[in-house]
Amino acid sequence: MSQPPHKVVQRVEELHELLNDWAYHYYVLDNPKVPDAEYDRAFVELQEIERDHSSLWQPNSPTSRVGGEPLDKFEAVVHKEPMLSLQTLTSSEQMVAFDKRLSSLFIEETGKVDLFDNDYFEIEYCCELKFDGLAISLLYEDGELVRAATRGDGHTGEDVTRNVRTVRSVPLKLRGGGWPKLLEVRGEVCITKHKFNKLNNELQSQGSKVFANPRNLAAGSIRQLDSKVAAKRPLEFNTYGVGYFDGGELPDKQRTRLTYLGRWGFKVADEVRLAHGLNECIKYFDEIGDKREKLYYDIDGVVFKVNDVELQKTAGFRAREPVWAAALKYPPMEELTVLNGVDWQVGRTGALTPVARLEPVHVGGVIVSNATLHNIDEIQRLDIRIGDTVVVYRAGDVIPKVVRALPERRPADARDIALPPSCPVCGSDILRGDDQVVARCTGGLICGAQQREAIKHFASRRAMDIDGLGDKLVDALVDQELIATVADLYRLKAEQVAGLERMGEKSADNLIAALETSKTVGLGRFLFALGILQIGEETAKNLADCFGDLEGIRRAPLLLLLAVPDVGMEVAKAIGAFFAEADNEAVIDGLLAEGVNPQASGVPSAAFVNSLTLAQLLKSAKRLGMNLEGIGDKSLETLGGHFRTVAELSAAAAEGAGDEPKGVRSGVMTQLARALAENGWQARLQDAEDQVAALAARAPAQAESRPLEGQTWVLTGTLEQLTRDQAKQALQQLGAKVAGSVSKNTSTVVAGASAGSKLAKAESLGVEVCDEAALLSMLTQHGIDPGAL
Ligand code: IVH
Repeated sequence: MSQPPHKVVQRVEELHELLNDWAYHYYVLDNPKVPDAEYDRAFVELQEIERDHSSLWQPNSPTSRVGGEPLDKFEAVVHKEPMLSLQTLTSSEQMVAFDKRLSSLFIEETGKVDLFDNDYFEIEYCCELKFDGLAISLLYEDGELVRAATRGDGHTGEDVTRNVRTVRSVPLKLRGGGWPKLLEVRGEVCITKHKFNKLNNELQSQGSKVFANPRNLAAGSIRQLDSKVAAKRPLEFNTYGVGYFDGGELPDKQRTRLTYLGRWGFKVADEVRLAHGLNECIKYFDEIGDKREKLYYDIDGVVFKVNDVELQKTAGFRAREPVWAAALKYPPMEELTVLNGVDWQVGRTGALTPVARLEPVHVGGVIVSNATLHNIDEIQRLDIRIGDTVVVYRAGDVIPKVVRALPERRPADARDIALPPSCPVCGSDILRGDDQVVARCTGGLICGAQQREAIKHFASRRAMDIDGLGDKLVDALVDQELIATVADLYRLKAEQVAGLERMGEKSADNLIAALETSKTVGLGRFLFALGILQIGEETAKNLADCFGDLEGIRRAPLLLLLAVPDVGMEVAKAIGAFFAEADNEAVIDGLLAEGVNPQASGVPSAAFVNSLTLAQLLKSAKRLGMNLEGIGDKSLETLGGHFRTVAELSAAAAEGAGDEPKGVRSGVMTQLARALAENGWQARLQDAEDQVAALAARAPAQAESRPLEGQTWVLTGTLEQLTRDQAKQALQQLGAKVAGSVSKNTSTVVAGASAGSKLAKAESLGVEVCDEAALLSMLTQHGIDPGAL
């Protein structure tokens, strides 16, 4: 193979340096130096070079961060210096004894007493957090990471280099200089509480197994043969010291060593402090204890280390623990207790959450008597029963949770946990989609539990945006029985509101005015505000665009809903169920009667109407359970194209076998005739077809409604009259795509105040640029009132 050109070799070196530097600023300092896109570009450039010139690939290339081929097993690694454990102290008395022991020892060994000749040797301690993760030893040779190993039995661990390389805050090359030729760095792979919860929520919504705690997650990810999986976990490495080193010097104080490690590119906890003597140690323990909940990481204690390395050597080791260090633990975050019962709580979206009623127990400093059990699947997976002894885990501010049961302690009368037959609050049916772990109350706006939350959501900024109607005020209005549904909001009188605690006349008037303004909200926002299960802002907007008015959506059968972009079976069913509920209908009618008048184009989108062919209706019908089994999409398309109307199709089907159009196997017509006769399918299809015809009669020709079809617009700078969202929605409504970056394919750039690099780029590429005023006049020309969006 030919040698890569010198230029390329140089570029690779440059990319290594840039990517390592940017990763350091991003992951270690938490202070990004360049935008993510810049990092990604350089990363891809390096990947491409490495693909084209395999000789330029190096094991420590920043591209190794994404993981590689899975391993069969981990190799054993003998640590250059054993990885020790720490003596654990669980009370301040034990801490006093630890300090006293060391103090006496140092007096004996050094003959020194303190300034006042007391027989107390005041020890300087380096105080650190005790991270709750997985201990790792990193070996650097000439500043390059060559090996990462787990602790194992302390003497021999496992080679997990590939996985550890994917941890972004592990330096692949040390920064700066002056490090020993050979350096073993010790620390803990952990995950922040925030990222832990986020990841677990994601796993849960995918129906995957969740991790019981951050430690399990860190261990499970690093002791994972497929490094690509590890690469996806947002793990971090916090260093707490040095193991073996050779071929160079290190400072003779633990604290200073940590400072050096920080300079060489490692993450060192901000909380590291020096303490002089016992009292300062206790103070540190208390201070960290107070902040424990707010720390980024789960910790189970703090570590005190004699700061002076010479004194450490004097103290030495006992068994597998250093005499010169100890961990002082906080009360545990996991505890055993008995599960007395399960209640089902109903949230805004009607989601039923099982809440464990527990025998009160101390966990992490507070008494816990309630904990979450996630959902019924999780309960079944973990086989938890009422009466069981369970492990309760509590971290940070998050709700405590039941992690598992101890079946060996199960009493004979333990009872299974089951979903309630109907909503425990309002008695409505409970809906549980096939691929959904969450069971929900279908009561919607009439369910008492959902009521408050629904009103809060309705009023919120991204929904109806009712200024001044915050959560507290909603609670007060409901408590005073001034409102029960969102329709009641519009029946409020200023005097009623002014009578509430902490409400003046002026704020009452303001609220009434804000309610008035909200009446002409855009249809998309209105639909979102209704809080229909599964309907986010995007889907709400799609529905508004497709149907063009509220009535069409209210009446739409599932067969039509399924053709809306982003609307799958679950979503369509949720919309159908919502509008089928008489109480929801009453609330909507109430809103309309009070003058709420959601703004919309009034015309269905041509693209939507055009997509509603007979073939499409048949395909949707099949998904909804019409017995078209064995008839593939291709045949349905042929049938739809051939017959065009439901009437023609059913007439031909009635004729029976032999009438199949070309390309459709025989027997299909007989099956069709049977399927149409079952469960009212013929009428349902007919009704859908009639509604499509009605929509089509109102839909404009494609070109008129989407004058910006095929164009790509970019918004930059600060707009004064419109929010970014409004401008984007308006442009999308006219058929334009709205992109985030300027390229030669951009049609127009809208430049607001203090537009920067995107404007410059547009100018350099000769892309058309307009200001906000021009955008507004263009929108008005096309009949759009962006303020109403
Ligand atoms: S020093 C020579 N410092 O705790 C002393 N360990 O029981 C060796 N750990 O699994 C450990 N935070 O990984 C030390 N600031 C800290 C620590 C810490 C967490 C872990 C360590 C080991 C265990 C020792």
